[in-house]
Amino acid sequence: MGYSTDAKRNLIIVSNRLPLSVKRVDGAFESSLSSGGLVTALSGLTKSTQFRWFGWPGIEVKELQDQKEVLKSLEQHNASPIFLDSDLAHEHYNGFSNRILWPILHYQSGVLYDDTPWQAYKRVNELFADAIADAAESGTLIWVHDYHLMLLPELLRKRLQDRGKACAIGFSLHTPFPAGDFWRNLPVRKHLIEGLLSSDLIGFHTDEYKQNFIDTCASLLGAGTQIPNQIQYKNRLVCTDKFIVGIDPQKFADTLKTPEVQDRIKTLKERYKGMKVIVGVDRLDYIKGLTQKLKGFDSFLEDHPELRTKVVLIQVAVPSREDVKEYQELETELCTIAGKINGKHATPEGTPLLYMHRSVPFTELTALYSVADACLLTSTRDGMNLVSFEYVACQEQNHGVLVLSEFAGAATFMRDGSIPFHPANTTEMSEALFAALNLDDKERQRKFEFLWDFVTKNTSAKWGSTFIEKLSRRCSHSSAPC
Ligand code: ADP
Ligand code: F6P
Repeated sequence: MGYSTDAKRNLIIVSNRLPLSVKRVDGAFESSLSSGGLVTALSGLTKSTQFRWFGWPGIEVKELQDQKEVLKSLEQHNASPIFLDSDLAHEHYNGFSNRILWPILHYQSGVLYDDTPWQAYKRVNELFADAIADAAESGTLIWVHDYHLMLLPELLRKRLQDRGKACAIGFSLHTPFPAGDFWRNLPVRKHLIEGLLSSDLIGFHTDEYKQNFIDTCASLLGAGTQIPNQIQYKNRLVCTDKFIVGIDPQKFADTLKTPEVQDRIKTLKERYKGMKVIVGVDRLDYIKGLTQKLKGFDSFLEDHPELRTKVVLIQVAVPSREDVKEYQELETELCTIAGKINGKHATPEGTPLLYMHRSVPFTELTALYSVADACLLTSTRDGMNLVSFEYVACQEQNHGVLVLSEFAGAATFMRDGSIPFHPANTTEMSEALFAALNLDDKERQRKFEFLWDFVTKNTSAKWGSTFIEKLSRRCSHSSAPC
């Protein structure tokens, strides 16, 4: 079976979250852009590649008439909703995916395993498999995304075989894959790995995550892993690779030129005249190291009290997973720390920390990235971190400095162009911040050029086409080496 490599190939993308989340407002259905790196990366692909996107619409829609309305509104975006009962969606998304799997993938200690969410996870993966097996035709490339759907490749392959459809299945993980010894903590560790091993191609953000996965396949399942990037399991050859996910830098360049953003930049520059602006944009998630960031900034202000009126940290904490207890507790903790920092360091001239717990429009985001002298990202673990790419994309004029935790996947590639630090070491963070704000022009230029080159070369379009090409090849010659 051959696949054309032009944009007309039949491609299905599957992720838990659709690019648009549906809400019911005053009885009517409204959809808004979902946030998060996965949506950013895949949305960047839409310019160059055609595909149909399947996922959960983010809301329970029971009535058939309402389902038709939601289907129609998403159709114009080539998105197809997979409707789920709200209790099931809750146990799958909040229960298993975000309370059990997410912490394990990000090296958080303690296992919260419980059987009810696991059963819901399996059921949702089955429902997705039913929908995709119906929608796919022989020859369709199916590209599954992220940890919410790790069982899907196996469930889907069985259904496709039963229906006599030959399709290639690819999978991309958008989180780290932890070292084998950590993954073993999860009681259902083998089921999830076996689920993934029905894929033809599995993509990771870094070589480290890829190798952790390969090692786990060998130690847990006895899979053959002697040849680099290949996993031999149950008479199937599964290929793995690193695919560098990126953004669409042109979208930022175009937005920066709009009069609305230019006006906003002017206003912000006037407001912070004579001051250094540091920006942070993160989903409110413990993996983003927001507690550490605020504590590090507190240390910085203690180390340099003369800068209290000369520096401002503008931190956007985008609400995320608000039904999960750990996220609710973090929100309360951050408010308290933010209040304490301003209580301690505020002057009649103003407060050094602007903590915003809300989502901001894309135009405001670009303006903020553009006026900031530095961007501070403090993830304790992070699959990639596309905010770091976005900051660079908005700094062509100013050459701002990226202060990037060594635990973000992006640090693997951006180390030479950023100022790296350990997020739990507040002294190191304070020093990194001070160094960033005092970097000489030559070094700032050098670092920026390095980052600019990386971000403009590794776009989301390139990421997508590289993965799809490889998946197509894999399918045409399923026993050929990877
Ligand atoms: P994660 O995938 O963990 O959320 P990333 O840093 O990779 O982390 O991606 C976050 C993405 O969410 C970025 O592309 C960022 O621009 C986007 N984002 C941030 N705020 C908003 C918002 N208000 N609406 C939509 N997307 C947002
Ligand atoms: O980066 C991992 C990830 O789960 C992405 O898949 C997603 O874009 C982001 O985090 C946001 O997560 P959620 O879909 O739970 O809002």
